[in-house]
Amino acid sequence: MKHDTQNKLAPTTIVLHWLVGITIIGLLASGVYMAENGVYTLFPWHKAFGFLILFVALARVFWRFKNGWPSAAGNYTALEHRLAHVVHWVLIGATLLMPISGLMGSVLGGHGLDVFGIEVFAQNFSVEDPEKTLPINYELSKLGSAVHFYLGYVVIGALVLHIVGALKHHIIDKDGTLRRMLGKQI
Ligand code: HEM
Ligand code: HEM
Repeated sequence: MKHDTQNKLAPTTIVLHWLVGITIIGLLASGVYMAENGVYTLFPWHKAFGFLILFVALARVFWRFKNGWPSAAGNYTALEHRLAHVVHWVLIGATLLMPISGLMGSVLGGHGLDVFGIEVFAQNFSVEDPEKTLPINYELSKLGSAVHFYLGYVVIGALVLHIVGALKHHIIDKDGTLRRMLGKQI
């Protein structure tokens, strides 16, 4: 399997970046939309895609550890370098913590998980009232929901910095940072 070099990123890096990246943007947008408007029709999709992307994100984290981080494609200042590094850690960490906390909130809250018609975790119905679901672990489900909520907004902040940084390198510095992530040799 090809590795990243300073002039060209490996196809694995590029495919994993955009597959995870675009899915995460969709999940952030659908999550905020649902929570702000109380519209829950997108909910089963949000949960199913959120669950599936966890496995791709795990493969990506494994790839990052095996391959290291790609070296800078331009002349970054020390501050830019550090900021980019922190933002990359927040983003890649969130690709694991967002689905895990979402799962904790839902599954430990007793709501179960259905992935496009396949029941992965069953709902925890009350014995007295089979219409009602009961939490499996109330405290942990509340912790999961709180992490999911607050971390969601941290990720949105980190993502704004990430995209502004990518555009700054492309438009102002005119270096190869963005072109390299689009698969070009620089
Ligand atoms: C329109 C959206 C996006 C653009 C334009 C973009 C652009 C880029 C660029 C140009 C790089 C290379 C940086 C370098 O060489 O130092 C990069 C790396 C990276 N991006 Fe994004 N990105 C986007 C969305 C995302 C999202 C949503 C995530 C969150 C999961 C993400 C996570 C990362 C990470 C962790 C890296 C470090 C390299 C790697 O692990 O592949 N990006 N991005
Ligand atoms: C990378 C994956 C994910 C991202 C980026 C993401 C993002 C978000 C965001 C930004 C919100 C709105 C903030 C909030 O109210 O909490 C949200 C809400 C929610 N997400 Fe996720 N999510 C992901 C995966 C999941 C998974 C796997 C599940 C469950 C199996 C899930 C269940 C929920 C629930 C239940 C809500 C609504 C919370 C409420 O309004 O009470 N999410 N998500």
